[in-house]
Amino acid sequence: MTGRGVTLPWRPAQSPEARVIGAVILKGKRVLIAGMSDRRSIGYSIAQEAQREGAEILLTSFGRMMSITQMTAKKLDPVPEILEMDVTKPDDIAHAVKETEKRWDRLDGLVHSVAFAPADALGGQFLNTPWESVATALQVSAFSFKEMARGFLPLMREHGGSMVTLDFDNSTSAWPKYDWMGVSKAALESVTRYLARDLGRYKIRVNAVCAGPLATLAASGIPGFKDFEEVWEKRAPLGWSLQDKSPVGRAVAVLLSDHLDMTTGELLHVDGGYHAMGTELPPAE
Ligand SMILES: NC(=O)c1ccc[n+]([C@@H]2O[C@H](COP(=O)([O-])OP(=O)(O)OC[C@H]3O[C@@H](n4cnc5c(N)ncnc54)[C@H](O)[C@@H]3O)[C@@H](O)[C@H]2O)c1
Repeated sequence: MTGRGVTLPWRPAQSPEARVIGAVILKGKRVLIAGMSDRRSIGYSIAQEAQREGAEILLTSFGRMMSITQMTAKKLDPVPEILEMDVTKPDDIAHAVKETEKRWDRLDGLVHSVAFAPADALGGQFLNTPWESVATALQVSAFSFKEMARGFLPLMREHGGSMVTLDFDNSTSAWPKYDWMGVSKAALESVTRYLARDLGRYKIRVNAVCAGPLATLAASGIPGFKDFEEVWEKRAPLGWSLQDKSPVGRAVAVLLSDHLDMTTGELLHVDGGYHAMGTELPPAE
């Protein structure tokens, strides 16, 4: 189904083959990606696209997720190393910085693809969520971007670079069930702007990709997530697939590249155009 009410199989706007061959936009870049779990993960698509575009990558994971990240990393070529980093632990961040420094003399790109909210911070119980759960959601999903940026700054400040985080299309709207994750994403957008303000002097760009809904492990914890599919079908002029994360991976790769060297503090929508529509799309003529 497309957004125009015509039943057609969903297809990407452009096939990978149709892209410019030979234009490897991240050649020589060293990129650290935090938040790849299984193959459904947006982080996996970012890792794939970054490697395809010539970047060397390092991943981070933490705790029980580590074994899943290790399994998933085996599907990447070359298989990247994975550092332990719980973004709520300053010592973990400091350790990951040291380990990165041992491998690389500089970092060109930092990707924050991390979010978490306790169950009682999602699901329509907005009025009843206790501060402890709100604090966890905000810390993991928004404050941690600042913590990572501060930690890795010494590896980026001499040469400049690009930091990218993952946002959902929501800070200007309230969504069913999204609750304190929605508030956390609004905070993340603001963190993005303040980091852009403070890191621009080092020629470090800080941007967010506002992705449409995608079927991932994190999304499976959001009650009623499947309902987004229908909503997007009715509004996104380019159509949208919950399964295809590659448009997001490619957009992150472009933001990591030198092509957008005067873009910072930006929220780049990769959502099939959903955000720009005032109402559902009219039926096709
Ligand atoms: N799935 C969607 O519909 C969608 C849409 C827009 C934006 N996003 C955002 O994309 C990002 C990636 O999410 P995803 O959907 O790929 O799910 P995911 O579950 O694959 O990724 C979330 C990652 O966050 C990590 N994480 C959670 N707590 C952490 C902590 N304390 N320390 C370190 N890492 C921690 C998890 O280990 C996991 O790898 C998130 O910021 C999410 O909000 C998702």
